[in-house]
Amino acid sequence: MSNSIMIDDKALNPLMTTYNRFPITVIKGEGSYVWDEEGERYLDFTSGIATCNLGHVPHYVKDQIEEQLNTLWHCSNLYHIPSQEKLASLLVEQSCGDKVFFCNSGAEANEAAIKLARRYAQKVKNTDSFEVVTFRDSFHGRTLATLTATGQEKIQKGFLPLLEGFRYLPYNDIAALDELAGEKTCAVLLELVQGEGGVIPAQQEWIEKLSDICLEKGLLLMVDEIQTGLGRTGSLFAYQQYGMEPDVVTLAKGLGSGFPIGAVLAKENVAKAFEPGSHGTTFGGNPLSTTAGVATLTYIKENNIAEKAGELGEYLQEQLAKLAEKYSVIKEVRGKGLLSGLVIPNAVEVVHAARDKKLLVLIAGPNVLRILPPLTTTKQEIDDCISILGNILNEYHI
Ligand SMILES: Cc1ncc(COP(=O)(O)O)c(C=O)c1O
Repeated sequence: MSNSIMIDDKALNPLMTTYNRFPITVIKGEGSYVWDEEGERYLDFTSGIATCNLGHVPHYVKDQIEEQLNTLWHCSNLYHIPSQEKLASLLVEQSCGDKVFFCNSGAEANEAAIKLARRYAQKVKNTDSFEVVTFRDSFHGRTLATLTATGQEKIQKGFLPLLEGFRYLPYNDIAALDELAGEKTCAVLLELVQGEGGVIPAQQEWIEKLSDICLEKGLLLMVDEIQTGLGRTGSLFAYQQYGMEPDVVTLAKGLGSGFPIGAVLAKENVAKAFEPGSHGTTFGGNPLSTTAGVATLTYIKENNIAEKAGELGEYLQEQLAKLAEKYSVIKEVRGKGLLSGLVIPNAVEVVHAARDKKLLVLIAGPNVLRILPPLTTTKQEIDDCISILGNILNEYHI
């Protein structure tokens, strides 16, 4: 083994063991590649878990952040911040949202959305509703409210009691939608592709029925686009491919190209539930992260990154389907755009074998290999990934 950090070695590593880290230490990134401390280069088809969507250290974003670094880092939300207002305008122009709240992560964005839903029900609509319906195998974050929203027991274990006011339905189950609107339900929160839950796209018919019920029963339709947003699925936001109009959209990950930032977009009538003092954050929307966001969104728009991701995603899916034809161990190819999954037993073994061959990929549950290239990848890099996966399947007979 190299001199990379091993997390289980107490003497060497003072970090809490919240992650099982792979035995490489990443010290540099550029485009679709990262390098370890021994100078080995890896094709990074994890993109920092769907975050470095423009590749590592994208020059356009870096230049803008560098300029901001020399000007102002932080001043608090007690004052106007030009880059924050600019990013909000860009998001509003390109989405169905009218107003934006900035925070620092995906969990914080969903936490704010849940608070907004409750406050809207109680302060704007004057009801006593508070329940948010989410879906089994969803993932919405690790704060107490968002891990309660997450429909996976393994994420909730050891953190009981969970927060009151959540109910879970099966995903993509049309019949189960008859139970969507309960007596105290105020909102529905869902992913349009369940990322962590196994790369499962929502079915069009299911979304149509779900949207209709939300409209009819006055439930807020809240879409978690933390993993699917910013071009990952082939449109700026995944909801645009479903012909739906959410009341609330949450974003994080790709919005800052790796700079921590989260956002909640909401329709005007919903957003008015937040007044001065009802919600806030010290760092949210600070000059550095929103400068990264402005640069990222501008680059995505000016370079048609979302459309290109759609085309590259189709190419990746085709190549994965060819692999599946050749290797019967692959049970299914899943995904939307460049959010792809292969259903394969012991996917984690493939992840380890790929790393040995200098390719970084992820899992999404025990039996799904998740492939998240940067949206700026090339067909050649996709071919390289496919060829490495093919070699592994040849050699390992997994
Ligand atoms: C769909 C979705 N929602 C929320 C989160 C939580 O985001 P964060 O890790 O930034 O808190 C994630 C993270 O993987 C996610 O994929």
